[in-house]
Amino acid sequence: MAIQTVGVIGCGLMGSGIAQVSAQAGFPTIVIEADQQLLDRGLAGIKASLDALVAKAKINQKARDDAVARLTGSTRLEELKGCDLVIEAITENQALKNETFARLDAICPPHTLLASNTSSCNVTAMAAATKRPGQVLGLHFFNPVPLMKLVEVVQTILTGDATVKTAYDWVQAIGKTPVKTRDSTGFIVNRLLVPYLLDAIRLYESGLASLEDLDTAMRLGCGYPMGPFTLLDLVGLDTTMYVAEVMFDEFREPRYAPPPLLKRMVMAGRLGRKSGRGFYDYSGGGP
Ligand code: CAA
Ligand code: NAD
Repeated sequence: MAIQTVGVIGCGLMGSGIAQVSAQAGFPTIVIEADQQLLDRGLAGIKASLDALVAKAKINQKARDDAVARLTGSTRLEELKGCDLVIEAITENQALKNETFARLDAICPPHTLLASNTSSCNVTAMAAATKRPGQVLGLHFFNPVPLMKLVEVVQTILTGDATVKTAYDWVQAIGKTPVKTRDSTGFIVNRLLVPYLLDAIRLYESGLASLEDLDTAMRLGCGYPMGPFTLLDLVGLDTTMYVAEVMFDEFREPRYAPPPLLKRMVMAGRLGRKSGRGFYDYSGGGP
């Protein structure tokens, strides 16, 4: 089976990027949000991102208009009934994701593939919440989606090989590079990246150096495109905390435990770029 129509649930940081690249690659794409205000904000963000590409002459006006025409939005999950592939990109919460997969299973026709963009939740549990576990997998994109080339294609012990092949081909069709991984918490990238980001917070808590110097050290000393605190603010401190909690719960290793400062930043509403302030202040635009 080849994918023709795509659904995306959640139009936040990740869902908006996934919907954008899907529509840009020629797939009619429906995006679902929790309420109309969030949907309008998400769709406006996608249009602004496409407009920025036109302004920089990365795409022409027709490509932008065609992508916008392929994109529709709704607050009703039932609108996904015509999709061949649905990608869930809602809040990082296992119970919420399991419930969403059970609802999707009842709405979508038998051939539809159901994918999760989860960073750390258990894809096998989402599959088990459906009557089609062979057609459930992880498709893990990276932030910012329009720029990052990688997608982890996650096979659970229940996912059929045909499902993996169809999803792998679709990832290539949207111009991304797939890598295959098993359903183990954090997959490849977050298994390595999350302990590094949490260690950076612990170093800052210990008073070793300033935020700016820690960031500069990793950028210029290791050639990383962003220092850890700029990256934490990009990912979102709430998402990082949820991911750390899931990984700690799974592996019971201190290196995955969310540091006290991270928890307090989230309690204080300092979520990173998306809330205007995280480790850095974005009220003036950049950090
Ligand atoms: N969306 C779209 N375009 C963006 C963007 C965004 N959020 N941020 C920057 N850009 C564009 C800029 O406009 C610029 O375009 P031009 O070249 O046309 O001017 C281009 O990207 C380069 O931007 P900058 O020069 O400002 O910055 P940069 O060279 O540092 O590149 C970056 C930006 C690609 C994001 C780079 O900094 C990078 O790779 N950072 C690391 C990102 C990363 O590690 N992501 C993974 C996060 S972890 C994850 O996603 C998994 C998870 O489960 C949590
Ligand atoms: P976000 O908070 O920016 O967006 C989540 C969106 O989902 C919100 O707009 C919310 O209103 C919506 N939502 C929640 N419940 C919903 C429901 N029942 N129906 C419809 N919409 C609903 O979060 P995000 O950063 O986009 O993360 C989304 C998922 O992607 C998470 O599983 C996260 O772990 C994963 N992820 C995040 C990153 C990252 O860097 N932030 C990278 C890769 C994967």
